[in-house]
Amino acid sequence: MSTEIDKAADYIRERIGEQKRLAIVLGSGLGDLAGALQDPVKIPYQDIPGFPVSGVASHAGALIAGHIDGAPLLLLAGRAHYYEHGNASAMAVPIRTLKALEVETLILTNAAGSLRKDVPPGSASMITDHINFSGVNPLIGAEGNERFVDLCDAYDPALRERIKTAAKTSGATLHEGVYVWFSGPSFETPAEIRATRVLGGDLVGMSTVPEVILARHAGLRVGAVSLITNYGAGMESETLSHAMTMRVAATGAENIMKLFKSIIADLHENPL
Ligand code: HPA
Repeated sequence: MSTEIDKAADYIRERIGEQKRLAIVLGSGLGDLAGALQDPVKIPYQDIPGFPVSGVASHAGALIAGHIDGAPLLLLAGRAHYYEHGNASAMAVPIRTLKALEVETLILTNAAGSLRKDVPPGSASMITDHINFSGVNPLIGAEGNERFVDLCDAYDPALRERIKTAAKTSGATLHEGVYVWFSGPSFETPAEIRATRVLGGDLVGMSTVPEVILARHAGLRVGAVSLITNYGAGMESETLSHAMTMRVAATGAENIMKLFKSIIADLHENPL
């Protein structure tokens, strides 16, 4: 794996110039951030050794380097999901490559369903902790004692504070909650949503948790923000669909863009 990572990191380094401390994984609805990048250098995943190629139409895979208001960063536009192939470690190479590139902080974004009536579709919610409901782990098969990764404070407390402050400064609405990872690709049943609520979940989704585990294993500082696209199954009469989540993601894009511009500027001015 390490030579694979070295190859990927060398390939990227040759094309993107100076070191970036911050990387952001763009989930559904966050694509506008890529459009806002200045001096973008876009490298399709398919050109980078070992990077996954995602089949979800809305997740065209590319690593994009650039600046937002003068702050350098890397965007991972598109991710591989467990439900595409049953491989929970599909994002291992991209995440370990970020570490090899000396990225320090990784912020993951996603689309999620809300289990709380006071956190409506279109709003943003910061993930404070997670429940892995999928039964799989991206580190199965990894070697060495480092695989026994501590996940207390997996969502970095100092970064969480900075994200909350960025929301206040920018006037963006930001809730927070516990994210529960279901494998997908089917949505949850109403009974699963009710059970999840009892277990302490606030948000449900089909991504992010494996990447958080991989990133903590790699030693990256991690934060995550969800864009709420719907209430959990059975909470409303509307039928859930990918088209619906994409439509609602667009309505929340302005708020979350405002939030991320503020986070990026703050982390650039005062690195953690
Ligand atoms: N469940 C799982 N994943 C999701 C949802 C949901 O309700 N909404 C967006 N991604």
